[in-house]
Parts: sequence; C-alpha cells; structure tokens
Amino acid sequence: MSEPRINADRLWATIMETAAFGATPLGGVRRLALSEEDRQVRDWFVDACKAAGCEITIDTMGSIYAKRPGTNADAPPVACGSHLDTQPSGGKFDGILGVLAGLEVIRALNDAQVETAAPTMVINWTNEEGARFAPGLLASGVFAGVADQAEAFAVTDRDGVRFGDALAAIGYGGSVHPQAMELAAYYEMHIEQGPILEAEGKTIGIVEGAQGSRWYRIHVTGRDSHAGTTPMSMRRDAMQGAARLISSVASIALEHENAVGTVGIVEAGPGSINVVPGSARFTVDMRHPDDNVLAAMDRSLRSAAAELAEDRRLGVEVDQIWHSPPVAFDPACVGRVRDGAVAGGHSHREIVSGAGHDACYAARRVPTGMIFIPCEGGLSHNEKENARYEDVAAGADVLMRAMLATTAG
Ligand code: HGY
Ligand code: MN
Ligand code: MN
Repeated sequence: MSEPRINADRLWATIMETAAFGATPLGGVRRLALSEEDRQVRDWFVDACKAAGCEITIDTMGSIYAKRPGTNADAPPVACGSHLDTQPSGGKFDGILGVLAGLEVIRALNDAQVETAAPTMVINWTNEEGARFAPGLLASGVFAGVADQAEAFAVTDRDGVRFGDALAAIGYGGSVHPQAMELAAYYEMHIEQGPILEAEGKTIGIVEGAQGSRWYRIHVTGRDSHAGTTPMSMRRDAMQGAARLISSVASIALEHENAVGTVGIVEAGPGSINVVPGSARFTVDMRHPDDNVLAAMDRSLRSAAAELAEDRRLGVEVDQIWHSPPVAFDPACVGRVRDGAVAGGHSHREIVSGAGHDACYAARRVPTGMIFIPCEGGLSHNEKENARYEDVAAGADVLMRAMLATTAG
C-alpha cells in the first residue's frame, strides 16, 4: 500500500472524453436528463466504475451508486458524486466534474492498493438541473425525503413526456428506493459557477452552505385579438402584462442586497405575429442566502402580480413549483475539506454557494460537505464554461483527502 495520488492527466482525459456525449458545435454539452445522450454517458460511467472494481446499485429514480468495497462491508459508505445531466447549452464541467473526480479517487485508491474500513462510493444523481423535468434536484430530493417519487414520475417535459417513462426508456429504472440507500457522509466537488475564487486567486472553496431558491411558473391571461384593428385601449394584452411583471422580477431582486432574480423561459400564445397575445407564460427563479428575505421577495412578486391583474383586467396565476431553503453543511465535513486544502497546500477560502446542488438535499439526511474550484470568468450554464487543469487536480486531491479522513473515522 502506498500514498494515494490523483492522476491529473487521467482525470482530465475523462472530462474531455465524456464531453463528447452531447457535444455541441460551440464546445459545450447538451445532455438533458434521461435523454439518449444521458444514457450514453451513464453507460460509460457504469462501465468505468465496474472496471474499477465497484458494485453498481441503481435506485428507482435512476441514480447510480458505484461502491468500492471496504474491509468493513457492513459500514455505510463514504460517498461523493454529483450529476451527469446538463443544461440545454451547458458546459463540460458543471456536474460531471464531481462524478469524474469521484471515479478518479476510486482509481487512485486502487492504484495505491489502499484499503479503507468503510466502503467508498461515487454517485450520479438523476435530474439535478431541472432543465427538462422541473424542478431540479429531483432524485436527491427523493433520497432526502423532500420530493415524492410518484409525483416525480408524473413530471412532464415540454413535449409531455413523463419522467417515469423517460427513465424506463433509457433502461435506468432501478429497484432500490433512494431512501433505502445509507451513506456515512457525502462530499461533492463542483466548479463555483461564480466569480469569487478566480477573482481572489484561490484554488479551493470550502463551501459552508448554499443559498435558498424559489421557482415559479406564471401564466398571464387576457384576450386574443387582431393586431391591426384592436385599439390599444381595448386590448387585454397578456404579453404586455407579462413584460411588466418580468421587469418587476429584476427590480425585486435589486431591492435586496445579494438577491438574484431570473426569468429564463417566456412563451406567448397563440404565437402569431399579428395576434395580440391572450396568453403569456414565463418562469421565475429567485434566490437569497436568507430565507426570510426570500419570503419577502415572494410577497413582493405576488403583490406585483395582483396589481397587474387589477390594472390591466388580466388573469395572473402565480404557481410556485419549488422552494429549496438555504442550507448549512456539516461542520465536521467542512472541517475535513479545510484540512484537506491545507494538507494539500492549496490556497483556499470559505464560500457560500450561489448555485443549488444535490449536496443541498443530501445534507438533510447525511453529513455533507462541498469543495469548489474556480471556473474561467465565473461563467457556467454556458457552452464556454471552462476550468483549469491544475484546479481540477487540486479539487480532486481535496476530495480524496476529505473522504479518507472520514473513512478513518
Ligand atoms: O440552478 C442551479 O443552481 C444548479 O446549477 N442546477
Ligand atoms: Mn451542477
Ligand atoms: Mn447546473
């Protein structure tokens, strides 16, 4: 047995190799949850983990658990992982980096013939992004007991395909319920997806927690009418009404320090150039580190919607589809990440995640920590997403150190 070392070349090669699954012309990745591209990368991951001596379990939400045996077969595994699904125009690192870093940790332990008491494990959580099946964190949500499997199976994408049917179609419907999976601890390595680490020249983010999120679907209804003959005073224009509410999402966020508000999807109906839209649908994503502020933003959004309905004789339905409160990670796990960064000689700083992660839900059931590395320009959810070879290697090194410190008990 020797000192395990991350093979940075091998890790980087897996990132570049798997970026081919769903590769886009601009150098990004489109690998929507439960798509053919997701199936391909899942098959690649299962084969690689089996080749590394792991036992594979797939749960009823399609999450994949690859376990490297420990000397104590009864001990719950020390796990790591993240997600293989991406945004429609995603990057090479968001999610898959944490899964591949976990595979590299297992390969490094094998190379060094390290025997751990507790088993180690790398997990791929289904549907983290929520881009195809909203909300996100669906599988880790069922694992944590905050999402219901039957409701998750009934979620449909924009073409009306049910989550449950898409899961069966790619052959990843497992037999074990997520809540039957026991973990001793969970660590997730991820790019920061924001500008802080790069701006401060820090290699490792010791993630203390993550901010809260609320997602909505809003439907404004008016009356379809002729674009040429309907006087402006007689219109019940759902799109103009939506535009007013959409701009209030930004102004609500700007009222609170550190708040963010995003409208990512807008659709007008019936969708004809010469028809005043009688229907407009859009999504809202609001976030803040303090749940009370997030609640205040929710109230502001709803009152802006009520005023719009009153002023413009429109129907305005505000449907909140997700609320994920802010989360604090386990102090012992955070401490092991910090110790790993120090032992590895990596510059570091504490940070709170602006993005949501499966770790946010895992933390509801098991001691959880996260490791961030910088990404170029803080850019993510963009085909140009990029990270540095050295930072990827450092992040995997800290992940391995934190996991080994946990198995040591
Ligand atoms: O939306 C998020 O925060 C995550 O990147 N899916
Ligand atoms: Mn992610
Ligand atoms: Mn993401």
